[in-house]
Amino acid sequence: MSKKKIAILGAGPSGLAQLRAFEAARLAGVKDLPEIVCYEKQNDIGGMWNYTWRTGLDRNGEPVHGSMYRYLWSNGPKECLEFADYSFEEHFGKPIPSYPPREVLKDYMMGRLEKQDIRKYIRFECPVRWVTFDDETQMFTVTVMNHKTGEQETNEFDYVVVATGHFSTPNMPYFEGLEEFPNRVMHAHDFRDALEFEGKDILLVGGSYSAEDIGTQCYKYGTNSVTISYRSNPLGYKWPEGIKEVPLINRFEGDVAHFVDGSSQRFDAVIMCTGYLFHFPFLPDELRLQTHNCLYPANLYKGIFWQQNPKLIYLGMQDQYFTFNMFDAQAWYARDVILDNIQLPELAARQADEATWLAEYEQVTDVSGDIDFQAKYIRDLNNATDYPEFAVEKQGEILKQWQKDKQVDIMGFREKAYRSTLTGTLAPELPMPWLEILDDSLEHFLNLSSCKKSTKKQVS
Ligand SMILES: Cc1cc2nc3c(=O)[nH]c(=O)nc-3n(C[C@H](O)[C@H](O)[C@H](O)COP(=O)(O)OP(=O)(O)OC[C@H]3O[C@@H](n4cnc5c(N)ncnc54)[C@H](O)[C@@H]3O)c2cc1C
Ligand SMILES: NC(=O)c1ccc[n+]([C@@H]2O[C@H](COP(=O)([O-])OP(=O)(O)OC[C@H]3O[C@@H](n4cnc5c(N)ncnc54)[C@H](OP(=O)(O)O)[C@@H]3O)[C@@H](O)[C@H]2O)c1
Repeated sequence: MSKKKIAILGAGPSGLAQLRAFEAARLAGVKDLPEIVCYEKQNDIGGMWNYTWRTGLDRNGEPVHGSMYRYLWSNGPKECLEFADYSFEEHFGKPIPSYPPREVLKDYMMGRLEKQDIRKYIRFECPVRWVTFDDETQMFTVTVMNHKTGEQETNEFDYVVVATGHFSTPNMPYFEGLEEFPNRVMHAHDFRDALEFEGKDILLVGGSYSAEDIGTQCYKYGTNSVTISYRSNPLGYKWPEGIKEVPLINRFEGDVAHFVDGSSQRFDAVIMCTGYLFHFPFLPDELRLQTHNCLYPANLYKGIFWQQNPKLIYLGMQDQYFTFNMFDAQAWYARDVILDNIQLPELAARQADEATWLAEYEQVTDVSGDIDFQAKYIRDLNNATDYPEFAVEKQGEILKQWQKDKQVDIMGFREKAYRSTLTGTLAPELPMPWLEILDDSLEHFLNLSSCKKSTKKQVS
């Protein structure tokens, strides 16, 4: 029998998790592993973590994938995304604070990969153009544009793993008068450098992570004022002077925004922190996941397998409290299905299972419930595979504490420290307030974290 062939679309954390899952099987002595090709649009691995200064189009004329910005720090504790088989302490050779900047997190992610020879599977600068499935041959046909050769390529596969992320294509709303706004209007996807807004009065639209993080970051780097306009609910944090929340925009008149409560203000820039669209331009209707950002997208068995054709696999399509370790849990499960270690039930049973999860998700009413739900989801996957045991429920408790810490001090929650569930080590505190650390390079952060700890109380 010929080897199974698998196409992995995307080499971000989710696609890399799939590659590592197979590599782990190979290292464990499993023979006859499938042939794997991973197609990646960018010229390196890391997905969102492969920071780019570019906005708009990349050098090949493809839409820029990256939405990360220069001074981004992790917005959740690193203790909740540790790979179960590779601790931060092992990577850095010492404990580091709980909220690392972007470069530090990427270094951790890469460190683990360097120990495995997986780049050989990846075809860089190869955006996927189109995927079809033939009912007769039961094979997928994947067409990519190979920008390195300048030619399109088409290949056949038994399985397709879609790991192209879902925080890249802006959801851009319109408000009356926006076309007359004389200053900068942009989406968070294109935000790169907070210093651009030093001394300015900026309006952020949206009531979620991007709004709070871009707002606090701009404050940190000297913006004159930050106004956050929400649609459903205010974020409700105790903001410092200089940051405030207002309800939704009603209309713009010149550089003045009028809000639905009757208030108004002039602005130097508008940044839409209005989330992202699930965008799979390379998939036909019958294979394309259509969802919003939530914890259990419909039509996926175990949050992974396309119900109508489970040889189509989606990774990382959930909203994310847990990230890297959840992608691992999914990838290990998908691997075991591909290797026939796990038998998928028939469609009716798969749909019944999905319905049970969706019904449970319906009952969730708060963030704490969200976290428990996602932890339970991960536990369910891990119970079925040999992905190393990790204390996902304990990590869920850390995430709940993180939520409380943000309520207490949105500008200082990154100074808290948590205990790794892998090593049992309590992270050192940031030796100085997050607001004062303007240089967030890897080198500076690691030097900082060698500094003497302050005597402030720690959370474990
Ligand atoms: C601003 C921002 C900040 C974040 N901060 C954090 C954080 O602090 N901590 C955290 O844990 N998570 C954070 N996240 C979540 C982040 O999305 C995940 O950590 C992680 O990057 C998701 O991995 P992924 O592989 O699913 O998707 P991505 O990282 O988005 O990777 C998808 C990959 O697919 C490739 N691709 C896309 N389309 C194609 C195509 N047609 N053909 C070939 N390749 C394609 C892309 O180039 C990319 O490499 C943040 C997200 C955003 C937007
Ligand atoms: N430092 C970091 O680590 C960091 C920073 C930023 C983002 N992120 C990550 O990036 C991901 C995406 O976060 P996100 O905040 O961009 O997206 P999101 O969580 O999906 O939130 C989108 C927000 O946009 C609002 N919105 C949508 N359409 C709107 C409209 N027409 N008018 C007004 N508001 C509208 C939504 O309002 P409703 O509530 O009304 O629906 C919601 O508040 C998350 O996983 C987050 O963790 C991480």
